[in-house]
This record gives sequence, structure tokens and C-alpha cells, in this order.
Amino acid sequence: LEADLKIHLGERSYRIMVSPDAWDQLPGFLDKENISGKLLVVTDDRVGSLYSSSLAGVLEGTGRRARFHTIPQGEESKSFFEIERLCRSMSENGFDRKSVILAMGGGVVGDLAGLAASVYLRGVTYIQLPTTLLAMVDSSVGGKTGINIPEGKNLVGTFYQPAMVCVNTRTLETLEARDWYSGMAEVVKIALTSDPVLFGYLEGFNEIGPDAGIEPTRIIKAACMKKALVVEEDERESGQRRVLNFGHTLGHALEASAGFGGLRHGEAVALGMKASLELSRRQAGLPEDQFKRAMEVIDRIPTPQFDSLDGLSEFILRDKKSSGGAVTIVLIEGIGIPRLVPLNDPGALLDAFTAVA
Ligand SMILES: NC(=O)c1ccc[n+]([C@@H]2O[C@H](COP(=O)([O-])OP(=O)(O)OC[C@H]3O[C@@H](n4cnc5c(N)ncnc54)[C@H](O)[C@@H]3O)[C@@H](O)[C@H]2O)c1
Repeated sequence: LEADLKIHLGERSYRIMVSPDAWDQLPGFLDKENISGKLLVVTDDRVGSLYSSSLAGVLEGTGRRARFHTIPQGEESKSFFEIERLCRSMSENGFDRKSVILAMGGGVVGDLAGLAASVYLRGVTYIQLPTTLLAMVDSSVGGKTGINIPEGKNLVGTFYQPAMVCVNTRTLETLEARDWYSGMAEVVKIALTSDPVLFGYLEGFNEIGPDAGIEPTRIIKAACMKKALVVEEDERESGQRRVLNFGHTLGHALEASAGFGGLRHGEAVALGMKASLELSRRQAGLPEDQFKRAMEVIDRIPTPQFDSLDGLSEFILRDKKSSGGAVTIVLIEGIGIPRLVPLNDPGALLDAFTAVA
């Protein structure tokens, strides 16, 4: 069982497998880890209808049976209601501390199932089986779990690492273009903040849509490798891990003001990155030619128009409150060179956004 990548976090270390048939490795992994408890697959209605039978087939082929728990697709499922429903269903069905949760789906399923795994019986094992590009390159790795409350996105959550991340890239074939692009935004984020080689690879394509010929395993491994380094250094996001928030300060505000589900996460991040690039040019000495090249790549991600900035600074300030009084924003001094700076005035970010939106 050769891991493609490994996250080194002492006893919380885990491997990441990336291939078109990665799920075939699951039974071998469960055997190797002596996992004999009950299996619960958490998925959403869409992913479930596409892949439940093939996942059940893989498990049954080696004599294991899983129970399936389905949530409605969409951001609204990241709720206390769904956490409660999931925990109660596990309890009713006799899931004990040896049980394992398999999160088969996008970031919504992963964040919800991860949170449930961290609190059910004070913690059971979980495995990430990401099926969106966004989940494959970002949310399934690193152990951040969470749900939303009306006051804001991801305001309730835990740090809880999975036991393995198993990326079956073949599932990308059924992904909608809009979700592919949403994941690409996170790939571009990683490239701009820490991987000039990956940036060069993306730049080599005239477009970066699902049919552009971009090799999923290539970008997923590159993104996970960079994420691994950052997470290993700063598991609980007190310092360096925050560079992964490039484009997220404004992105979160846009998402919140659009109402959950109105904008894809990656679309919001793409818009946020544009503003951050403009601010980087103004305040962090990002050279003009690199600014242009970075913008060109981000502009290949289709994003909705934003006419009104009403209320955005309020959402940015809310971020400020929850982070203890100071918003740190990520700028880049050059492609692959991030810099964390305090954002004293949300207006400067909104002004930069107006200039590029
Ligand atoms: N934990 C983290 O570190 C982290 C990082 C980034 C984002 N997130 C969270 O991730 C969430 C967004 O994730 P997402 O973009 O994957 O959204 P998602 O889970 O809602 O998936 C998007 C849509 O794609 C469908 N889908 C999933 N896989 C499919 C497939 N293979 N074929 C066809 N359709 C498929 C889903 O049913 C859903 O309708 C947000 O809630 C965000 O906060 C978490």
C-alpha cells in the first residue's frame, strides 16, 4: 500500500492516495489498520446516486458492508440539524467507538462528516473520499471540519485529522463545470502563494476548464503536497497556515453577503484573489508583469458579476471580531512568495476590489 503522499503529524499522520482507482485500496487499508468496526458512508443525494453502488461494491468484494447515510446536497446541510441527525442515526444503529465514517462527497460532506466524527462518542475514525476537485485539492486534507450558523460560515468546527484521504480522480468525470472551476480557484491559490512551477503549468493552458486537458493527478498531488507542508508546520492555523487564506478575507465576505449557496466557495475565492492581487500590487511590491500574468490565469475562472459592495465591510469586520481584533490578510510579493499583513482598513481591500471587479 504505497502512499502517494503523507501528512506527517506524529500519531495523527496519514496518507493520501491519488489515482483513478484509488478506492480499490480501501479494503487493504482497513485490513492493514486492523479496522474491523462498522462502516458508515456519509454522502449527499447527488454523489450517493452516482457512486454508492460502486463504493459498496469495492467494500463488499472483500466481505465488508457499509451503511449509507445521505444528506441533501448543498451548503445548507452544513448545519447542527444534520450533525444531530447523523449522530442519532449512528447511535440508533449501534455504531460504537470502533466505527469508521467514510466521507464520500465534496467539501460539504467532508466538513460535516469530519465534525460528526470528532464529536460522536468523543471521536471516531474517519476517512475522506473526496469527489469534487475542491475537496481533492483542499478541504479533505488538513483536518478542518465545520458547519455554518446564521451568524457566519464555518463558525462551528474542530481540527480533527482523517485516518486517510483516498482520492478517486475518476469521479471528476461527472462533476459540473462550475464545480470544476471552483476547485481550480483553490489550485490557482496554491500556485500563487507557494508553487511557481504549478503556476507555470497552469499558465501553459489557454483555458483551465474541465476539457482543457489539465491532468487531475498532477494538480491534485502538487496542491496536496504544498498543503501538507503548511499543515505539518502549523496544524491549528496559528501562523503560517494562514497563507492558505489568500483571497479568503473578501471571499468569505462575498459568500456571506450572497447568502450561503449563492456563490460557489471557489468563485468567491477567485474574486477575493483578484482584490488581493490588486492590493499586492499597491502595497506589497508585486511587479506589474507578475500581476498581469496572475490576473490572466484567474480571469479564466468564470465568476458572477458583483455590483454592490453593500454590507461587505461589515462581514469583514465580523471576521475581525472572531479572530480577536485583527484581520490578517495574505498578499504576494511575487508569484509563490506570500506575505501576511494586518488589514487595518477593510476599505482598502474593497477599494482594490472595485478597481478589478
Ligand atoms: N475544511 C476545509 O479545509 C475546507 C477548505 C475549503 C472549503 N471547504 C468547504 O467546502 C465546501 C465546498 O465544497 P465543494 O465545492 O466540494 O461543495 P459541495 O460539497 O457542495 O459539492 C458541490 C456540488 O457537487 C456535487 N458533486 C460532488 N461530487 C460530485 C461528482 N463527482 N460528480 C457530480 N457531482 C458531484 C455535490 O452534490 C454538490 O451539489 C464549503 O462548505 C467550504 O466551506 C472546507
